[in-house]
Amino acid sequence: MRNFPDGESYVRIDSPVAGREVILVCTLDRPNDKVLPLLLLAATARDLGASRIGLVAPYLAYMRQDDRFAPGEGITSRYFAGLVSGYVNWLVTVDPHLHRYQNLREIYRIPAQVARAAPLIAEWIRHNVPKAVLIGPDGESEQWISVVADGADIPFVVLQKQRKGDRDVEISVPKIAHWRERTPVLVDDIISTAHTMIQAVRQLRATGLPSPVCIGVHAIFADDAYGELRVAGAKRVVTCNTIPHASNDIDVTDLLADGVRAAFA
Ligand code: R5P
Repeated sequence: MRNFPDGESYVRIDSPVAGREVILVCTLDRPNDKVLPLLLLAATARDLGASRIGLVAPYLAYMRQDDRFAPGEGITSRYFAGLVSGYVNWLVTVDPHLHRYQNLREIYRIPAQVARAAPLIAEWIRHNVPKAVLIGPDGESEQWISVVADGADIPFVVLQKQRKGDRDVEISVPKIAHWRERTPVLVDDIISTAHTMIQAVRQLRATGLPSPVCIGVHAIFADDAYGELRVAGAKRVVTCNTIPHASNDIDVTDLLADGVRAAFA
């Protein structure tokens, strides 16, 4: 694939795909630049006779706009899911942001295998953070925090978040001073602007807890989010390798391979 001088995409598949299963692997952070070329590639494979086309997207974009929060807004998660479902036959991803949707089936018309990073995160904590207390920054995080806490055999606390804008987040912390002897480990699915994590780090520090370790599944880190999170007082920032980043320390490759195998079962 390359761009023509006018910015349009040129697509050519050198290997024979007629009658074959084609698997496209493309993580979908910063999706707008990636999606049109990806769909054109899928359409080309189909046109050349591929029997089925699968998409392995370790990070699945456009899951967070899952409602019309203000009049006139588009529910882009639905439109994006409809678009992708029209071009590929199946999907494998890791921890899609399922908040108001229970399941990808609510918006995707194709079979989707969802891999869960929680057991790997629990294992990482067991090996790297003695005497941890797990912290979920908001109510949505409880679904995976409780699984991680269970796997790592540590207590967990869920904070409350109010988002007022893209980078305007307020976090309130319940009474947790009795955990001062433990290292707080914040876990969230997505770190984008990092303001959720930054506010949580500040609030935890203000209650007298030690510097938290911050773990995110998907390392989006918009602009200088990573630097800002370090400056805010995170002891360490660790992510899964669903999006390549220097903080990747938890390998989800086997989860993706299992997902692909399940797509062929
Ligand atoms: C909430 O909706 C998600 O689980 C994350 O908390 C959120 O996406 C983090 O975004 P940011 O890093 O921009 O605060």
